[in-house]
Amino acid sequence: MDGKSLNITEDLISKLKEIIPGAFTEDKINVEQLKQVLGESISTDTDRYQLTWAGKNEAYKVLQIPTTETLAPNFNGSVNWDDAENIFIEGENLKVLKALQKSYYGKVKFISIDPPYNTGSDSFIYPDNFSETKEEYLKKLGEKDEEGYMTREGLFRPNRKENGQFHSNWLSMMLPRLFLARNLLKEDGAILIHIDEHEQANLSLLLNEIFGEDNLIGNIIWDKGNPKGDAMGIAYQHESILVYAKNKEKFLSETDLSRKKKNAERMLKKASELYKLLNTIDIPAEVKKVHKEFNLPDEILTKAKRKFTLEEINSQFNTWIKKQGLSGGEAAYNKIDENGNVYRLVSMAWPNKKKAPDDYFVPLIHPVTNKACPLPQRGWRFPTSTMKELLDKGEIVFGADHTVQPQRKYLLKENMSENLPSILFYGGSDDSLLRNLDLEFENPKPVEFTKSLIQAFTKPYSSDIVLDFFAGSGTTAHAVIECNKSDNGNRRFICVQLPEKIDEDSDMFKKGFVSIAELTTERIKRVFTNSNASQAQKLNFNNKKPIGFRSFVLTASNFKIWRGDMISSEEELLNQISMFNDSIKSNSASINILWELVLKSGLPLTEKIEKVELDKSEIIYLTEGHRMAFCLDKFTPEIQAKIIELAPSVFICLDSLFNKDDRNKTNTQLKLQDNGIEFKTL
Ligand SMILES: C[S@@+](CC[C@H](N)C(=O)[O-])C[C@H]1O[C@@H](n2cnc3c(N)ncnc32)[C@H](O)[C@@H]1O
Repeated sequence: MDGKSLNITEDLISKLKEIIPGAFTEDKINVEQLKQVLGESISTDTDRYQLTWAGKNEAYKVLQIPTTETLAPNFNGSVNWDDAENIFIEGENLKVLKALQKSYYGKVKFISIDPPYNTGSDSFIYPDNFSETKEEYLKKLGEKDEEGYMTREGLFRPNRKENGQFHSNWLSMMLPRLFLARNLLKEDGAILIHIDEHEQANLSLLLNEIFGEDNLIGNIIWDKGNPKGDAMGIAYQHESILVYAKNKEKFLSETDLSRKKKNAERMLKKASELYKLLNTIDIPAEVKKVHKEFNLPDEILTKAKRKFTLEEINSQFNTWIKKQGLSGGEAAYNKIDENGNVYRLVSMAWPNKKKAPDDYFVPLIHPVTNKACPLPQRGWRFPTSTMKELLDKGEIVFGADHTVQPQRKYLLKENMSENLPSILFYGGSDDSLLRNLDLEFENPKPVEFTKSLIQAFTKPYSSDIVLDFFAGSGTTAHAVIECNKSDNGNRRFICVQLPEKIDEDSDMFKKGFVSIAELTTERIKRVFTNSNASQAQKLNFNNKKPIGFRSFVLTASNFKIWRGDMISSEEELLNQISMFNDSIKSNSASINILWELVLKSGLPLTEKIEKVELDKSEIIYLTEGHRMAFCLDKFTPEIQAKIIELAPSVFICLDSLFNKDDRNKTNTQLKLQDNGIEFKTL
């Protein structure tokens, strides 16, 4: 354990080495050999299509700088810590994404982000100066306060339109974050990014560079149904949602990208109500109305009596369908068959421009007239064997006679889901939902809409992790909870939000909230608390999903960091050496050190840690499956014996607990080794 986040360059080199070992000489990439191996696939032409901007190189350097920062638990900001499967992190997302690399590399199924759109007035915060050298930047990102380095607050400024590098700054901000996000995705994972007209074109190109054009899943238009009132030109009423997979083929093989037809249940219910009337005797509603209004004789009613036919049922169903505001895909299911099934008709014509093979031209015979029905010009969509199967299953519908071309029948009950279309309509706002939680946010994304996207991109029962590192008000967290509530799923979220100060004139500030992250935490807390309470009330033991979340805060490492860059005299060198007599910073709490070790060992933040207490200060922290044990307060012969009994694979102990007694340390090492336990000191 080196106390740092994953080294991105080393990670890439090791991957390249795995695929092309021949391109390395003495552990360094041999460019000439690489060119030889890849032959014509290497482009050396300087005059080529590419995305470039001022500061791109520096943005890659920023990506490569590891962080030593860590995450400290915030028990007060959590709900049901022990059983929680969800995570909220307060902190700057670049550092958080770096800190998460070891624990969550390749573990996240779905990333959904809504970054600042770079409108010139939004809360886009970016590192001030990308033109400095890597060393200068490293220095700024280093430890703050104690060593007197610049604080994070000093490092960030809002991006304004007057700024000469307006788009460049935004791209430089997005590049390292997207790169790190991609690392966290599972091979079958995908990322979804909300964006508006300000940066959509640039973002598409950047995503092509980081994820590869071939991994584009699609560009969804979200029609909000409400054009912007302050538009100078075209009034935008939509936003874009760009979706990329880590590996499109794997993603599509694992994810069906479908969503439930919103109104399907309601349509089936209406059809069943109408179908129950089949063959009953009825008086049309209009006749009854006129009879009553004009006080007409009763024989009018008797004369108007009629048997309820399937045609009548279909006509009433059709009228109802037209009034419901259904999506095109839903409204097409506008027919009811003789068994009461709702269905739609679809052409069976060969879809391509070229003619179908001969086997696709066998005519269908009309069941009543016994004559051949017309064939589509370029043939049927299916070969004769499939057409016969469909016919046997009753899935082909004929017209009144042989002059009508037969069509395929799709039953609604067998097609309750539909593929996510490229245009989504959602115009609602969550103002009242948040008011019910007694909270307010500026422009939160709607939970219902976010929920439908999460459901399309994740599976309910695969413990899929959903990550949002521009969490804002915490809509993603809220939507994950709602998804699990509605399908009893076990999706989990990780949300990251900067402690950005909220407007001092806002009601929320007056109510005592200082930062957006505080508001986000409070929202998630209230959603969990309310959901847990209502689940408990229902006493439904099969469905009690919402449980809780663990809250963490990005902080400086608890370990002293060797500052070679500060040593310019013998005195400073001695200073650094004396600091390292104890590697732990003086004000570090054991619990924070523990979670730093958990994170930097690559364990998840949801790890369940058992506290084995021999007495008050003799504590062993044991991770799941006895993979690791930590000792941070005191080391005694009793602890040593207990460790041997618990038999973890690795035992990590603070070096200072041996009080410079090297003999004791060596003996411990040998004893643990004899018992198959790897021993490490820090
Ligand atoms: C557009 S808002 C997200 C809104 C969110 N989708 C919702 O429904 O409320 C973007 C959020 O990202 C946060 N943010 C901006 N830069 C950040 C950074 N470097 N690290 C973490 N959060 C950041 C901002 O504070 C802001 O709350």
